Amino acid sequence: MKALVLSGGAGTRLRPITHTSAKQLVPVANKPVLFYGLEAIRDAGITDVGIIVGDTRAEIEAAVGDGSALGIRATYIPQEAPLGLAHCVLIARDFLGDDDFVMYLGDNFIIGGITDLVEEFARCGADAQILLTKVDNPQQFGIAELDGEGRVVRLVEKPTNPKSDLALVGVYMFRPPIHEAVRAIKPSARGELEITDAIQWLVDHGYDVRSHFVSGYWKDTGRLEDMLECNRKVLEGIEPACHGRLDAESRIIGRVVIEEGAVIERSTVRGPAIIGRGTRIVDSYVGPFTSIYHDCLLERTEIEHSIILESTKIVGVSRIEDSLIGKEVEVSLSSTLPKAHRLMLGDHSKVSLAF
Ligand code: TTP
Repeated sequence: MKALVLSGGAGTRLRPITHTSAKQLVPVANKPVLFYGLEAIRDAGITDVGIIVGDTRAEIEAAVGDGSALGIRATYIPQEAPLGLAHCVLIARDFLGDDDFVMYLGDNFIIGGITDLVEEFARCGADAQILLTKVDNPQQFGIAELDGEGRVVRLVEKPTNPKSDLALVGVYMFRPPIHEAVRAIKPSARGELEITDAIQWLVDHGYDVRSHFVSGYWKDTGRLEDMLECNRKVLEGIEPACHGRLDAESRIIGRVVIEEGAVIERSTVRGPAIIGRGTRIVDSYVGPFTSIYHDCLLERTEIEHSIILESTKIVGVSRIEDSLIGKEVEVSLSSTLPKAHRLMLGDHSKVSLAF
């Protein structure tokens, strides 16, 4: 069995981070979202992994390499534009051959892995298997309608009047008939080849499409709130460890990971939190559910429930909450008159100032 991991896309909902970076590489508890998926695939015994890449190809390739560090063999499949999930299957035909495969959306996050799902699919004779979860807002998802035996009868992409609250999670299992399906369908109104249309094609042509309920935690990390929620979930379970340096005036409370070369001076870190390698926390407070990535500087700052990417400097700011801050960002308090906020923000940035 092979895996096809989708790591292209536009990532409009995570702008401005995605203007310059791949959303699949945003770190959750200091590990890129994509790595959790690749590890789940490897743990399910699949090593041959095709990765669909778009504009952020160079960054994804630099992070994953040949895959050996993650225990997989990565093959990159460039997609010229985000033309839809079924388009990804279409262009991966040579890589997939006639093997069964699991298709995994690179920005999706599942706690508990996919091993059970892969084993169930290997045992059963179904032509395709989708993963479902109950959601409160079915209008925003691909939705499945099932018959009494759990067989899929209808799939609708973001329905205006949903007939079910069962949303498709970003993990799909397919056998070779899917290749005929993705060739047969036409682009949707939004111009994409929809995987829901391809699966519906399978149902309509008498193929057996089954469903499997996600028992554990699942999240599509397309938006800031989702990233922060995943970060919270992972941090709740981290094993405390201190590989950095802590001075006598600093306090560490609860589950905190301090990576190699990180320095904490005259500061308090209240977990769950993670401080990345080479980061310095000086005269600051880092509160629960915060992940600070590599080589950052926090000085005279209070921060909580946030994700900070690498090499960012925050000086004299109190207090930051519920935030996602990109790479090499500088946020500081200015003493220059006139007293004013001085901003240089990229397109689609969001700033909420407190007085
Ligand atoms: P989506 O989150 O559905 O799409 P997107 O990345 O374009 O994001 P947004 O809606 O915010 O603009 O994509 C799910 C995953 O599949 C994500 O990892 C990107 C990837 N993808 C591709 O690789 N190629 C595609 O053509 C599409 C649509 C998505």
